[in-house]
Amino acid sequence: MPSDNACINPTDNGIPRHIAIIMDGNGRWAQKRFMPRAVGHQAGVKAVRKIVEHCVRERVEVLTLFAFSSENWRRPPEEVSLLMELFMATLHAEIDKLHRNNIRLRFIGDRSRFSEALQKKMSEGETQTRNNTALTVVIAVNYGGRWDLCQAFRAVNQKVLAGELNPQDIDESLVSRHLSTADLPEPDLFIRTGGEQRVSNFLLWQLAYTELYFTDTLWPDFDQKSLEQAILSFKGRQRRFGHTGEQVLGKAVTL
Ligand code: IPE
Ligand code: IPE
Ligand code: MG
Repeated sequence: MPSDNACINPTDNGIPRHIAIIMDGNGRWAQKRFMPRAVGHQAGVKAVRKIVEHCVRERVEVLTLFAFSSENWRRPPEEVSLLMELFMATLHAEIDKLHRNNIRLRFIGDRSRFSEALQKKMSEGETQTRNNTALTVVIAVNYGGRWDLCQAFRAVNQKVLAGELNPQDIDESLVSRHLSTADLPEPDLFIRTGGEQRVSNFLLWQLAYTELYFTDTLWPDFDQKSLEQAILSFKGRQRRFGHTGEQVLGKAVTL
């Protein structure tokens, strides 16, 4: 059974409620131009701005962006430091703007490995924007799908040990409620730019019934038109969640 918040038609107009993106290809974008990878990451931030604006226009509810994976620490230390600096600078420059545009900012991932200053900035951004309603932007940083499941299992286990929970009560909905995305609808549309067709430890549990879309476009080149194309592809799909196509067309489907 898909979880309660999954649905066949996410909204009346077929626009996905929740879009989750692996923003890949920054490095290759720069290398193609004989420039350092850093330039690609900077260009990637500009692409984020445009995509956020378009999601607001299209009334998408949640946009989750994979910015730094738990595996990205394996990159050369100079690139990791640069990404951290760019992350901090972007938060400095953008939080007020996001707030003025009624956008709610959230972060998922293990923050404990970040500098205190960065952790502080992240929670300030969340607090400042928490009541905004135009769009929720979720930034996945030091995030891994396996980490998310482990932290959920730890939290559930604590409750079992404290006698607040019976092991028999552990079901899919309970696990979902302990993930870092607990209060968000599951992603309807997953997009990965940059040509690779893999999930790279992104939202492993949450993507169970998400529509997948892969494009060769490198992230800095991914613009409004590219997003429109992805949404168009999404609109043309029939989400069956295990039912038959006839059931879905007959609208006899209850999830
Ligand atoms: C994605 O672009 C951004 C991060 C992982 C931070 P990449 O840096 O992975 O770009 P490519 O895949 O090397 O081109
Ligand atoms: C995935 O991209 C992570 C982010 C976009 C933040 P990677 O470029 O790190 O993925 P792999 O290593 O090629 O799978
Ligand atoms: Mg990459």
